[in-house]
Amino acid sequence: MYSTDNFNLKGKKGLIIGIANTESIAYGCAKAFKALGADLAITHLNDKAKPYVEPIAGELAADIILPCNVQKPGELEAVFDTIKQQWGQLDFVLHSIAFAPSVDLHEPLINSSPDGFLMAMDVSCHSFIRMSRLAAPLMTDGGSLFAMSYYGAEKVVENYDLMGPVKSALESSVRYLASELGQQGIRVYCISPGPVKTRASSGLKSFDKLMSDTVSRTPTQRLATIADIGKATALMATPAAKMITGETIFIDGGHHIMG
Ligand SMILES: NC(=O)c1ccc[n+]([C@@H]2O[C@H](COP(=O)([O-])OP(=O)(O)OC[C@H]3O[C@@H](n4cnc5c(N)ncnc54)[C@H](O)[C@@H]3O)[C@@H](O)[C@H]2O)c1
Repeated sequence: MYSTDNFNLKGKKGLIIGIANTESIAYGCAKAFKALGADLAITHLNDKAKPYVEPIAGELAADIILPCNVQKPGELEAVFDTIKQQWGQLDFVLHSIAFAPSVDLHEPLINSSPDGFLMAMDVSCHSFIRMSRLAAPLMTDGGSLFAMSYYGAEKVVENYDLMGPVKSALESSVRYLASELGQQGIRVYCISPGPVKTRASSGLKSFDKLMSDTVSRTPTQRLATIADIGKATALMATPAAKMITGETIFIDGGHHIMG
């Protein structure tokens, strides 16, 4: 009952969406899932991203590597079809993607365009709902679904603007999905890491200042690395976390508790 089987992912199968390079949060998570014993399927955005992601898939001995732009009709479905054919079932999914057109991202929220807002919502939030719908029938032995959020979902963070309401919608979606899928033994989580320098975050205005302001108000006096984020996320996919669901889990050295 209290065996170490509760704390590993041996023989578990997981899909990782969101690796762009070795700085991606999804890469830190994939390394940790692998270290706990999981087999992985990995996607890349398009042909341009493929040469960066392929060596990573090799390093992680991924069973499956496929293209997946969540806005391209049929690509997400093709990923789940391949998983069904090759693995027959699935244990966890990591959604670690976000996008907003830079014109909308660099303006106050009040100036956001309907198209920019909808695109950000589609890629960063609704695609997680679509993934959950495709994953659930394959999670025949229960499972876990992860999405990446940020503190700017619940508090106003300077320059986060458009992504604030998008991440709020993602966190709310996680709660509703957790309620809908709980009976199937499927848990749903938002992971909320502190700021990390990545390709996506480099698109935010004054990101270096956000990092230094954050660290000065963080109890651990340092920011979480992608390895820190990965290890804590992978732990949530183990049987040890079976009775936790619907939560936004902060992996931020305690920054969010500060008044
Ligand atoms: N870096 C941070 O400070 C930070 C903090 C909290 C949360 N997050 C969140 O973490 C997640 C991962 O971002 P990251 O910081 O690792 O950056 P990243 O640039 O390494 O990863 C973003 C990923 O999104 C993918 N993506 C964008 N549009 C897509 C589409 N249409 N279809 C499929 N994939 C698409 C990119 O290909 C890339 O792999 C995002 O949800 C981000 O909002 C980041």
